[in-house]
Amino acid sequence: MLKRLLRRDRLPQTMPSAGPPAAGFAPLSRATPRIDRFSDEDLAELNRLLKWNCFTVDSQGRRVGDRARTAKREEPQDIPDRRIVLLDDTFALRDKHVLEVGCFEGVHTIALADRAREVTAIDSRIEHVVKTVLRCYLYGHAPEVRRCNVELADEMAALPEVDVVHHVGVLYHLVDPVVLIDRQRREYLQSLRDLDAAASTGDKGVAAQLMVEGAVLHLKADIEWLDLIESRLTQWERSA
Ligand SMILES: C[S@@+](CC[C@H](N)C(=O)[O-])C[C@H]1O[C@@H](n2cnc3c(N)ncnc32)[C@H](O)[C@@H]1O
Repeated sequence: MLKRLLRRDRLPQTMPSAGPPAAGFAPLSRATPRIDRFSDEDLAELNRLLKWNCFTVDSQGRRVGDRARTAKREEPQDIPDRRIVLLDDTFALRDKHVLEVGCFEGVHTIALADRAREVTAIDSRIEHVVKTVLRCYLYGHAPEVRRCNVELADEMAALPEVDVVHHVGVLYHLVDPVVLIDRQRREYLQSLRDLDAAASTGDKGVAAQLMVEGAVLHLKADIEWLDLIESRLTQWERSA
């Protein structure tokens, strides 16, 4: 017994770190009226209620959510993340329906919903679906959020048609990303066949012909890009 106590005394004393403060962050440069109505006590309770893995801030610089654990997401998540701004600059999301794969706790979902016409967010884990619904509500949005595994074709088939897919930090979680690439390639090939059929029917004006040719060129480039991803992933898997 004494030996055991002495051994315990020699163990390094790792003090649990206090975690991020409840307030005092740079305020979000976006209105957050639904959160502003919470007292500090209400917000503290909300932050304890769920097992959050990241946090954002409100327009008063208060914490919404929590870090994942010591040294994991100790800093507030940006709204918007720079990649969402880039996506919007590139694809002009205002009139687009965006599918977000792997929405986690809704941080990117909010920034997407701030910009896009419509957002559907999916995640394979129900706890992430719940946290995304709640965080989006707090920041003024109510996107469609579903539990859906991107690797299961039947679950994906139940999703609506969208214009843009946002997919960051999910690929390395998948059992077999190459299967997903193959499925995407088959869809592109089907679109190519449809365009071919459309091009050969009826008497089209020059403008319509040019649009079809443009779409074919884009699809071919997308297919080449998928081939490149597949070969890189396969090389990476072999070397791992
Ligand atoms: C590391 S987080 C990335 C979150 C966010 N996209 C980002 O960049 O911060 C990965 C997310 O993908 C989800 N995920 C993992 N595998 C998935 C799958 N097969 N289908 C849908 N979501 C998945 C996880 O539950 C998690 O929420």
